[in-house]
Amino acid sequence: MKTPLFRTTLIAAAAAVLSTAAFAQNTGKLKVGLMLPYTGTFASLGNAIENGFKLYLTEQGGKLAGREVEFVKVDDESDPSKATDNVNKLVKRDNVDVLIGTVHSGVAMAMAKVAKESGTILIVPNAGADAVTGAMCAPNIFRSSFSNWQPGYAMGEVMAKKGIKKVATITWKYAAGDETVRGFKEAFEKGGGTVVKELNLPFPNVEFQALLTDIAATKPDAVFTFFAGGGAVKFVKDYAAAGLKKTIPLYGSGFLTDGTLDAQGADADGLFTALHYADSMEVPKDKTFRLAYAKAYKLQPDVYAVQGYDAAQILGIGLKAVNGDVSKKAEFAKAVEAAKIESPRGTFSLSKAHNPVQDIYLRQVTGKENKLVGVASKALTDPARGCKM
Ligand code: PHB
Repeated sequence: MKTPLFRTTLIAAAAAVLSTAAFAQNTGKLKVGLMLPYTGTFASLGNAIENGFKLYLTEQGGKLAGREVEFVKVDDESDPSKATDNVNKLVKRDNVDVLIGTVHSGVAMAMAKVAKESGTILIVPNAGADAVTGAMCAPNIFRSSFSNWQPGYAMGEVMAKKGIKKVATITWKYAAGDETVRGFKEAFEKGGGTVVKELNLPFPNVEFQALLTDIAATKPDAVFTFFAGGGAVKFVKDYAAAGLKKTIPLYGSGFLTDGTLDAQGADADGLFTALHYADSMEVPKDKTFRLAYAKAYKLQPDVYAVQGYDAAQILGIGLKAVNGDVSKKAEFAKAVEAAKIESPRGTFSLSKAHNPVQDIYLRQVTGKENKLVGVASKALTDPARGCKM
């Protein structure tokens, strides 16, 4: 027969084992799954996001909520057909505590699906897929960047106010292109304009010639476009080489000229774009961020670096509130929802659907800068269509 004393000792021992496990869960290394493109047309975007994320971490002494961070990296190649396998490897094989990713909207939707099903915390540091903070929204999914609708809508308002009447659009045929153009069209047509032609090519193709010929024949008042990364470099150069820059003004969501100006050179000069970040902003946080980034990486930061930095800030805010315990999802979300995030873009907060509520700036390319011209749309909130949360 076991004595009561023996039983009490056993219970105490079991409790000690359990609390040690819980302690280890909160204080051991935090495993961060970084799923980003490191090859292909968006490779430089993935690198800038990682740099920004790591800059914030370094500023925190390499720890978030007292936990050291260990990275597990996957090159997602901006390939939606490999996305589910890639994210499942991180969640199921590597057992990551949180997911950070990605750039491409199609890949991000696969990540959001897995995050929603597994409950893993996901912070999206770029991809604008409207569904991520729309129909697929979830308490454990956050975005530090934008929705595709946001810069498109802001530029639609700007161009309608300028009195432009007929516009042709051109973009890649996938969620980011479709949704940016849809946002643009919503505001532009509300403001009295008409989209007279919608041109597309498959992602990540860059054979623009036939489409440029079509634009020349259509003779719209202006063109609105979404391209990014390597594709944006080639599009801006081809548009100028086709002689269209002088006759049909080109406008874009700001990704067209962000992180790309060195390669685009004079062909980008004068272009107007709309985005949640700009060069030459009078934001004190931006000044310190830019100095620190340039010192650490010998590079100028761009919007992607800012979004990576802010993804790390969001993670830090949530983790602090739960003492590093990622299983406390409701408390994590509550802290992030209440936060004012001090971003280099200016302070922002997240909407109920977890997308940034933010100013969208009008910028104009001047030399090697996306110079701030003004605010295109103040505190623009994504409509979060289909989000039930
Ligand atoms: C996207 O696929 O959502 C995307 C990709 C690159 C950008 C912006 C959005 O620069």
